[in-house]
Amino acid sequence: MKIIVTAGPTIERIDPVRFITNRSTGYMGYSIAEGASRKGHKVTLISGPTKLKQPKVARFIKIETADELLRETKKSLKNSDCLIMCAAVGDFKVKKICKKKIKRKNKLILELIPNKDLLKELSKNKAKKIFVGFSLETEDLKNRSIKKLKDKRLDLIVANQARKERNIFGDNKLDVLIIDKKGAIERVFKKSKPHIALVLLDKIQKLWYESKLRVA
Ligand code: CTP
Repeated sequence: MKIIVTAGPTIERIDPVRFITNRSTGYMGYSIAEGASRKGHKVTLISGPTKLKQPKVARFIKIETADELLRETKKSLKNSDCLIMCAAVGDFKVKKICKKKIKRKNKLILELIPNKDLLKELSKNKAKKIFVGFSLETEDLKNRSIKKLKDKRLDLIVANQARKERNIFGDNKLDVLIIDKKGAIERVFKKSKPHIALVLLDKIQKLWYESKLRVA
């Protein structure tokens, strides 16, 4: 299959030396990209800034902002079978980026405006492609993730519970739910990100072959 994986955080510039971002390390997305490549898929990895070593993939594209991520993903999507949207897309950007470094003052109010919902935008050209999203919630994980799966027209969603006492970033083990669009739920309990990546890739391959059988 030709698979696009997006990974890592996005950043939104404030001025030439400052930006806002999030705590994503990119490890989940890179694990998926590496796992998919090893399985023989042609992988395009589109990544925000991370400290990780570039995995062996067919194409590696660097982005910074959510708008850049949308543009690059749109370009690659035309020639692909599957999109795995693992990037932690910032929901807001600064309305007006300052061209000069902002000087110290008593008070600074930044006006933030929403970024587009990239998956919603990209799913307009979904056709028969498989779309996979991730969901991060502090409450009501299952129901909110099912809602995201429907709203964003996904085939699968990996639902991740954010808890104060457990760091989900980096190389910690995770407890996730993988939910498909028919409502089937698999719980993957306390597993590493490379392990979750392989479970997810097996599900994607199964969906892909099933869709091919339906066409034949
Ligand atoms: N996502 C996206 N565009 C955004 C934000 C998120 O495409 N502007 C994608 C993420 O890559 C992920 C999925 O949507 O695959 C869910 O992301 P999440 O942050 O859990 O949800 P949001 O849609 O941002 O909703 P909220 O932050 O309100 O929970």
